[in-house]
Amino acid sequence: MKISGVILAAGKGTRMKSSSPKVLQTVLGTPMITYAQSALSKLDSKYVILGYESDSVSDHILEGYKIVEQKEQLGTGHAVITLVDSKEFKSDNSDYIVIIPGDVPLIDKNDLDKLIDAVTKNKSALGLITAEVSNPSGYGRIIRTKENAKKIVEEADASEEEKSINEINSGIYCVNKEFMLTHINTIKSDNAQNEFYLTDLIEIAFQNKQEAVIVQVIEDTIKGVNSMSQLNDVEDTLKEKLISSHMENGVYFQDPSTTYIDEKVTIQSGTKIFANCHLTGNTEIQENCEIGPNSLINDSKIGEGSKVLYSVIDGSEIESNGKIGPYAHLRVGSSLGDNVKVGAFAETKNSKISKDSKVPHLAYVGDAELEEGVNFSAGAITVNYDGKEKQKTEIKKGAFVGSDAMLVAPVTIGEGAMIGAGSVITKDVPPKSLGIERNQQKNIEGYMDRKKSSKDK
Ligand code: UD1
Ligand code: MG
Repeated sequence: MKISGVILAAGKGTRMKSSSPKVLQTVLGTPMITYAQSALSKLDSKYVILGYESDSVSDHILEGYKIVEQKEQLGTGHAVITLVDSKEFKSDNSDYIVIIPGDVPLIDKNDLDKLIDAVTKNKSALGLITAEVSNPSGYGRIIRTKENAKKIVEEADASEEEKSINEINSGIYCVNKEFMLTHINTIKSDNAQNEFYLTDLIEIAFQNKQEAVIVQVIEDTIKGVNSMSQLNDVEDTLKEKLISSHMENGVYFQDPSTTYIDEKVTIQSGTKIFANCHLTGNTEIQENCEIGPNSLINDSKIGEGSKVLYSVIDGSEIESNGKIGPYAHLRVGSSLGDNVKVGAFAETKNSKISKDSKVPHLAYVGDAELEEGVNFSAGAITVNYDGKEKQKTEIKKGAFVGSDAMLVAPVTIGEGAMIGAGSVITKDVPPKSLGIERNQQKNIEGYMDRKKSSKDK
């Protein structure tokens, strides 16, 4: 038996009141259209209906999907008519078609399997996923017999009595292809929204004495996103689930309600996430780390045993036992070896800082390479920008850069060398040398007494 799948994703999502296409809105960092595609990943042939800003949405469509354009969005029924009439669908040889909306991101693959089983087992005309919910407002309501659906009434068309029904339509269906091809063109748009409703197929089946099987599931997995507040609700639901699964894997959360975690982030056991942390993008946190409170980590790898306190880390990698913060900023391309410390008010960018090196306070390290065991003292900076281009600073093994030094790049500080505090270094410093650039200190003895007595006069 062959089963194909289609995602309906042509709508703008007017109720979102946002100019970006609804299916590109993200849920925990991943666009909704990506969740829909992963739900259908197992199916034989796959289609997606695009319309509003199809160019930008198609950038997120995976290989294996055939894109069908619905130029005018005249309703969910019209979207399926567009599919059936498309050249892409001509060679489709499936027996059943799974239809899902692009705006139900929590969709569960097991529910889909149950739906497919229920429909194919009885050779039914179609089946749909429903749920009983506390607030059915906005969804299509299910009018049913004991086992099957008779009809779906949309909110805009529902009588007061129908509005009080709390079993809702998920918009997820599995339809016998023969049945669909025979009846899809009989759908009319004589309703409150003048749209072609796909939901009319249920009543058509009933009138033709065919079964529309119901698979009832829990509310969470079929939450639809039509407004910003529904997007927030879906995101909260998924976040709760995600944090629970991290907890099951042995990750501690001090205050889950103030933690934000993208869906792709991985965290290993023994790690503690303190309050107010944002972990986003492709972030990987290894075992036994302490993150936060108050830290933001994006697209970064944090090695085993590292501690990150009140800091921002973006596009960077830290090996084991890093000590970051409080108030450090690791910008894109910072790569830290084992046991590296980047402390209070220090900023790094596009720099390699090797094992056992320290940038403990008030420093800037940009476009630099620090070998092992370098000490980069308080207030020292790499002067990496000459007004036109970024220049590189190299600091060799065991070198000591004194406080408030300016290393004007390109410049190399040799192995084991020392830079005197307050120096502006513009020339390379050979290994084991002292590089110092400042005026001799002058002490004027008795100065303060003389100053005082001249005032007294
Ligand atoms: C739809 C269902 C409703 C169900 C709800 C579940 C209909 C008529 N109503 O309502 O019963 O409870 O989903 O979330 O089907 N789309 C197109 N082309 C169009 C119109 C829509 O591709 O011409 C796509 C949209 O991009 C969206 C999906 O179909 O991804 C659903 O459309 P939407 O407008 O969100 O329908 P709902 O009002 O939520
Ligand atoms: Mg919707």
